[in-house]
Amino acid sequence: MLILGIESSCDETAASVCEDFRNIRSSVISTQIEEHKKYGGVVPEIASRRHCENILEVTKQALKDADVTLADLDGIAVTYAPGLIGALLVGVNFAKSLAFAAEKPLIPVHHIAGHIAANYICHKELEPPYLCIVASGAHSHLIEVLSYTEFRVIGRTRDDAAGECFDKCARAMGFPYPGGVHIDNAAQNGDSAAFKLPHPAVAGTEYDFSFSGLKTSVINMLHRADQKGEIIDKNNLSASIQRTISEIITEKTMKAAEEFGYKKIALAGGVSANSGVRSALGNACAERGFEFYMPELSLCGDNAAMIACQGSYNFAAGITADESLNAVATMPIDNIIY
Ligand code: KG4
Ligand code: ZN
Repeated sequence: MLILGIESSCDETAASVCEDFRNIRSSVISTQIEEHKKYGGVVPEIASRRHCENILEVTKQALKDADVTLADLDGIAVTYAPGLIGALLVGVNFAKSLAFAAEKPLIPVHHIAGHIAANYICHKELEPPYLCIVASGAHSHLIEVLSYTEFRVIGRTRDDAAGECFDKCARAMGFPYPGGVHIDNAAQNGDSAAFKLPHPAVAGTEYDFSFSGLKTSVINMLHRADQKGEIIDKNNLSASIQRTISEIITEKTMKAAEEFGYKKIALAGGVSANSGVRSALGNACAERGFEFYMPELSLCGDNAAMIACQGSYNFAAGITADESLNAVATMPIDNIIY
């Protein structure tokens, strides 16, 4: 089975061809990061316009790299929710037209389900059920992956996502957008015990996250230092932020695994590229004898290989869309409406 995947939910235009669920024949990503850097974050209208310009070329390249034609495909999968609405609309409309012209089924894919599926590409033995922590620029979710197409959310962020916290702290320290990776790099040369940062608790549920308190405390610390003319060591602060976020994610995930009886844990989303999160969660799983899965670095951020892979599972489960498919900016993964 050959599925073409298309992704345009944020600032990456991507296309990929996936064979038999988990084998990636091609994966092309055109990133807009350099352009959005000037503004310190993604400018939605610019993102939509760049997708519009690049999507055909990226798709042609993905077909060429995979050595297939449109006629060889069994279906065309596309991210339709959640994400920036204008950005999503470009991908949805393009995929819809392609499916119509090539007379192929159109397969809708939820972006977070795609991030989770990145693990199937890297770990051929991984099968549901398992517990997955998804941490990205827009989401922090603890998810029970019940099957390839069924998800139950145990915990979610009440305010900022983990990636947003990394990015806003990074911005306050003067690092360019997106700052997560800069904090990761600076942390390699820092002392993670240098600053004591809060582990915000969320009243009401044990598994929900809150990262805005941590962000605010970092921003306040930097402002106070600035007013007093003091210099804060960015490597030490980066290492302390990374350690705190890693601890919060690891503590909640381990608690949920024990309570809900999961011995198989996966990590997904852009923040899964973070070296501190990868090792903290990996070590905690090893201590408990749990199996631990995470995507290779090239599949942590937004890409279309994960969309093509999840699209293959959706297609096998009979999930297809008709010509009325629309883009949706917000859609919880435990209430996906196809
Ligand atoms: O999944 P993703 O590419 O986009 C969304 O779906 O949101 O995630 C992007 C997020 C950004 O916040 C970025 O700073 C963060 O992932 N990120 C990292 C690292 N690499 C990417 N955060 C911390 N450490 C990293 N190495
Ligand atoms: Zn993403």
